[in-house]
Amino acid sequence: MSTLTDKKMLVCLLSFSQAAFGALAGCGSDSEGLGTCPTDSSAQQTAGQSVLTNSCTVCHNPNYANGTPAGGYDFSSADEVRAEAAEMYGEAAAGAMPPTGKLNETDLEALRVYLACTQ
Ligand code: HEC
Repeated sequence: MSTLTDKKMLVCLLSFSQAAFGALAGCGSDSEGLGTCPTDSSAQQTAGQSVLTNSCTVCHNPNYANGTPAGGYDFSSADEVRAEAAEMYGEAAAGAMPPTGKLNETDLEALRVYLACTQ
Protein backbone atom coordinates (compact mmCIF):
# COMPACT_ATOMS: atom_id res chain seq x y z
CA MET A 1 0.00 0.00 0.00
CA SER A 2 1.35 3.37 -0.92
CA THR A 3 1.19 6.37 1.39
CA LEU A 4 -1.14 8.11 -1.01
CA THR A 5 -3.59 5.22 -0.91
CA ASP A 6 -3.48 5.22 2.88
CA LYS A 7 -4.17 8.93 2.97
CA LYS A 8 -7.05 8.64 0.57
CA MET A 9 -8.51 5.84 2.63
CA LEU A 10 -8.29 7.96 5.77
CA VAL A 11 -9.88 11.00 4.17
CA CYS A 12 -12.56 8.78 2.75
CA LEU A 13 -13.27 7.19 6.12
CA LEU A 14 -13.30 10.54 7.89
CA SER A 15 -15.60 12.28 5.47
CA PHE A 16 -18.07 9.44 5.53
CA SER A 17 -17.82 8.57 9.19
CA GLN A 18 -21.34 9.87 9.77
CA ALA A 19 -22.97 7.83 7.10
CA ALA A 20 -21.81 4.31 8.09
CA PHE A 21 -22.12 1.10 6.09
CA GLY A 22 -24.04 2.11 3.00
CA ALA A 23 -22.09 5.24 2.29
CA LEU A 24 -18.81 3.61 3.26
CA ALA A 25 -19.41 0.80 0.82
CA GLY A 26 -19.93 3.42 -1.87
CA CYS A 27 -17.31 5.82 -0.55
CA GLY A 28 -16.43 8.30 -3.25
CA SER A 29 -19.77 8.06 -4.98
CA ASP A 30 -23.05 9.58 -3.78
CA SER A 31 -22.58 10.73 -0.18
CA GLU A 32 -26.22 11.59 0.22
CA GLY A 33 -27.51 8.41 -1.34
CA LEU A 34 -29.60 6.16 0.84
CA GLY A 35 -27.07 3.36 0.72
CA THR A 36 -27.96 -0.18 1.55
CA CYS A 37 -30.34 -1.79 4.00
CA PRO A 38 -28.03 -3.61 6.44
CA THR A 39 -28.88 -7.20 7.33
CA ASP A 40 -30.02 -7.82 10.92
CA SER A 41 -30.96 -4.16 11.31
CA SER A 42 -34.48 -4.56 12.67
CA ALA A 43 -33.69 -2.70 15.91
CA GLN A 44 -32.19 0.18 13.95
CA GLN A 45 -35.17 0.19 11.59
CA THR A 46 -37.53 0.43 14.55
CA ALA A 47 -35.47 3.30 15.95
CA GLY A 48 -35.50 4.99 12.56
CA GLN A 49 -39.26 4.69 12.32
CA SER A 50 -39.53 6.49 15.67
CA VAL A 51 -37.22 9.23 14.42
CA LEU A 52 -39.43 9.63 11.38
CA THR A 53 -42.59 9.79 13.49
CA ASN A 54 -41.21 12.11 16.15
CA SER A 55 -38.98 14.37 14.06
CA CYS A 56 -40.66 14.47 10.65
CA THR A 57 -44.27 13.27 10.57
CA VAL A 58 -45.08 15.68 13.38
CA CYS A 59 -45.16 18.37 10.66
CA HIS A 60 -45.44 16.25 7.54
CA ASN A 61 -48.97 14.97 8.16
CA PRO A 62 -52.36 15.98 6.75
CA ASN A 63 -53.47 17.68 9.97
CA TYR A 64 -50.48 20.00 10.18
CA ALA A 65 -51.96 23.19 8.75
CA ASN A 66 -55.67 23.08 8.02
CA GLY A 67 -55.44 19.79 6.17
CA THR A 68 -52.13 20.49 4.46
CA PRO A 69 -48.94 18.65 5.41
CA ALA A 70 -45.76 20.76 5.70
CA GLY A 71 -44.30 21.40 2.28
CA GLY A 72 -47.07 19.25 0.78
CA TYR A 73 -45.30 16.05 1.89
CA ASP A 74 -47.33 13.56 3.92
CA PHE A 75 -44.96 11.12 5.63
CA SER A 76 -47.80 9.39 7.44
CA SER A 77 -48.25 7.69 4.06
CA ALA A 78 -45.93 4.69 3.69
CA ASP A 79 -46.13 5.03 -0.10
CA GLU A 80 -45.02 8.64 0.04
CA VAL A 81 -42.15 7.79 2.41
CA ARG A 82 -40.98 5.06 0.03
CA ALA A 83 -41.20 7.39 -2.96
CA GLU A 84 -39.46 10.32 -1.24
CA ALA A 85 -36.96 8.32 0.83
CA ALA A 86 -33.80 9.55 -0.91
CA GLU A 87 -34.97 13.16 -0.86
CA MET A 88 -35.92 12.85 2.81
CA TYR A 89 -32.56 11.46 3.78
CA GLY A 90 -30.84 14.11 1.67
CA GLU A 91 -32.63 16.90 3.53
CA ALA A 92 -31.89 15.31 6.92
CA ALA A 93 -28.23 14.59 6.11
CA ALA A 94 -27.77 18.17 4.90
CA GLY A 95 -29.23 19.45 8.17
CA ALA A 96 -32.05 21.23 6.34
CA MET A 97 -34.70 19.04 8.01
CA PRO A 98 -35.98 19.09 10.66
CA PRO A 99 -35.98 22.91 10.62
CA THR A 100 -35.21 22.96 14.34
CA GLY A 101 -31.73 21.55 13.79
CA LYS A 102 -29.85 18.59 12.40
CA LEU A 103 -30.55 15.14 13.82
CA ASN A 104 -27.76 13.62 15.88
CA GLU A 105 -25.65 10.95 14.17
CA THR A 106 -27.42 8.02 15.80
CA ASP A 107 -30.87 9.24 14.80
CA LEU A 108 -29.73 10.23 11.32
CA GLU A 109 -28.25 6.80 10.69
CA ALA A 110 -31.31 5.05 12.11
CA LEU A 111 -33.47 7.13 9.76
CA ARG A 112 -31.21 6.25 6.84
CA VAL A 113 -31.46 2.55 7.63
CA TYR A 114 -35.23 2.71 7.98
CA LEU A 115 -35.60 4.57 4.68
CA ALA A 116 -33.10 2.35 2.86
CA CYS A 117 -35.00 -0.72 4.03
CA THR A 118 -38.28 0.58 2.59
CA GLN A 119 -36.82 0.50 -0.92
C1 HEC B 1 -41.30 21.88 12.27
C2 HEC B 1 -41.96 21.24 11.16
C3 HEC B 1 -41.12 20.31 10.27
C4 HEC B 1 -40.42 19.19 10.68
C5 HEC B 1 -40.27 18.64 12.09
C6 HEC B 1 -39.85 18.61 9.47
N1 HEC B 1 -40.19 19.35 8.38
FE1 HEC B 1 -39.69 18.96 6.46
N2 HEC B 1 -40.59 20.69 5.84
C7 HEC B 1 -41.28 21.57 6.69
C8 HEC B 1 -41.77 22.68 5.89
C9 HEC B 1 -42.59 23.86 6.42
C10 HEC B 1 -41.36 22.43 4.56
C11 HEC B 1 -41.62 23.29 3.30
C12 HEC B 1 -40.78 24.51 3.29
C13 HEC B 1 -39.34 24.22 3.18
O1 HEC B 1 -38.91 23.53 2.22
O2 HEC B 1 -38.58 24.66 4.06
C14 HEC B 1 -40.62 21.18 4.57
C15 HEC B 1 -40.06 20.60 3.44
C16 HEC B 1 -39.51 19.33 3.41
C17 HEC B 1 -39.07 18.65 2.23
C18 HEC B 1 -39.12 19.23 0.81
C19 HEC B 1 -37.88 20.08 0.65
C20 HEC B 1 -37.85 20.78 -0.66
O3 HEC B 1 -36.86 21.50 -0.85
O4 HEC B 1 -38.78 20.68 -1.45
C21 HEC B 1 -38.58 17.43 2.61
C22 HEC B 1 -38.03 16.33 1.71
C23 HEC B 1 -38.71 17.36 4.04
N3 HEC B 1 -39.27 18.52 4.50
C24 HEC B 1 -38.30 16.30 4.80
C25 HEC B 1 -38.31 16.28 6.20
C26 HEC B 1 -37.74 15.21 6.99
C27 HEC B 1 -37.07 13.97 6.42
C28 HEC B 1 -37.93 15.53 8.29
C29 HEC B 1 -37.45 14.80 9.50
C30 HEC B 1 -36.05 14.49 9.56
C31 HEC B 1 -38.65 16.81 8.31
N4 HEC B 1 -38.84 17.22 7.02
C32 HEC B 1 -39.07 17.47 9.45
C33 HEC B 1 -41.51 21.40 8.03
C34 HEC B 1 -40.96 20.40 8.83
